[in-house]
Amino acid sequence: SDYNTNKRHRSSDESQQRLPETLSAHRQLYERNFPLYKQPVEVGFFSLDSRRSFFNDQRQLRYYVQPRKSPDFNLRDGYTSRFVKRDDSVKEKLDHLLQWILANRDKIQTRDQTPSSSALGVDFVTWRGHLTKVLTTPYETQEGWMLAASKFRGTIYISEVETDAARENRETRSERQEEMMYWGYKFEQYMCADNVDGTPDPGGVVNTNEAFCTVVQTRLADHKLLFSGEVDCRVKDPDAPPAPGCYVELKTSAEICTPKQQSNFHRYKLLKWWAQSFLPGVPQIVAGFRDHDGIVVSVETFQTSKISQLIKNEYNCWKPTVCMNFCSDFLSFIKSVVKEDDPRLVYLFRWDPHRDVTYTVHRDSPFTILPDWYIKDIKS
Ligand code: A3P
Ligand code: MG
Ligand code: MG
Repeated sequence: SDYNTNKRHRSSDESQQRLPETLSAHRQLYERNFPLYKQPVEVGFFSLDSRRSFFNDQRQLRYYVQPRKSPDFNLRDGYTSRFVKRDDSVKEKLDHLLQWILANRDKIQTRDQTPSSSALGVDFVTWRGHLTKVLTTPYETQEGWMLAASKFRGTIYISEVETDAARENRETRSERQEEMMYWGYKFEQYMCADNVDGTPDPGGVVNTNEAFCTVVQTRLADHKLLFSGEVDCRVKDPDAPPAPGCYVELKTSAEICTPKQQSNFHRYKLLKWWAQSFLPGVPQIVAGFRDHDGIVVSVETFQTSKISQLIKNEYNCWKPTVCMNFCSDFLSFIKSVVKEDDPRLVYLFRWDPHRDVTYTVHRDSPFTILPDWYIKDIKS
């Protein structure tokens, strides 16, 4: 039908209309032309060391090393003896990205703005991972999300809040699940060197506190975005395209033995892989397929830009345009709701599978996103 509640908040004359209280996530509503998505530009990067300390440099960037034809990677190796796990009960919110912003405000690209302006000149600041969840929402049937948003000096900051269900899952993971979370990081260690002239060191310690993050700017429809995401490695070739074009995403997945497994891989895994890498403009995904014992049986490269071709033969499959249009409309919805410029106010957006996006408003609550050290520094 022509009637689409999402059209209301895109009206040019909001003043005469009631603001929408909810946003539908039905995929059919978002099947229109692909929205404008500008090529993401890297405006900076930062590193987190083995103790999760912030460094305004690329010390944690690693280099992709092409494996031999039949690699013998055992992803279980070192799990009990050479593994330091990040404490995922610590909620870091946007803190590291805010630290980057304070140290690099001059690197944020602003048009039509005086350099002395107190505003950042972007509409949204967030993590890439939060946007990945938004992109996949029209196809998600298992896990909901909560995203907190606050406006400060014209920019809306978006930070995830852990749902009760996610917390429950995190606190009751089985030993098998805990170990399998390690496998992805162990694969990275087999595939990456710390230096451009180095080789991987499978005998080293896997420490999941360590991270290299890119900070990119782009635009989705009329939304100016600044976001950051973790990058696994880059290609060694110094003549490779500039970042993010030289970056490589590493992934692991169960080996595919049946047509049903192949179909599920296309329908569910490739959606998440595509969304994660498309957002920051990472062109390649190198996948290690492993058996039930954590032995890698094959390594395959996927071009991010070709994934949508690859899945077109699946019946009733996901579509990039639906993901991007939903994200664009969700950001418009946030803009229509988050009107008050006050970092002490948090608008908490919530989505559960088979429901609409709704929101609640909270003042001086535990959901607060922006710390005093950030607000004070920006104001000074
Ligand atoms: P895999 O994706 O190969 O399973 P990323 O791929 O985003 O660089 O993340 C590296 C690894 O962190 C993942 O490797 C996985 O082992 C672990 N990981 C990331 N997100 C996770 C999640 N939501 N649940 C469980 N493990 C996760
Ligand atoms: Mg990673
Ligand atoms: Mg990865």
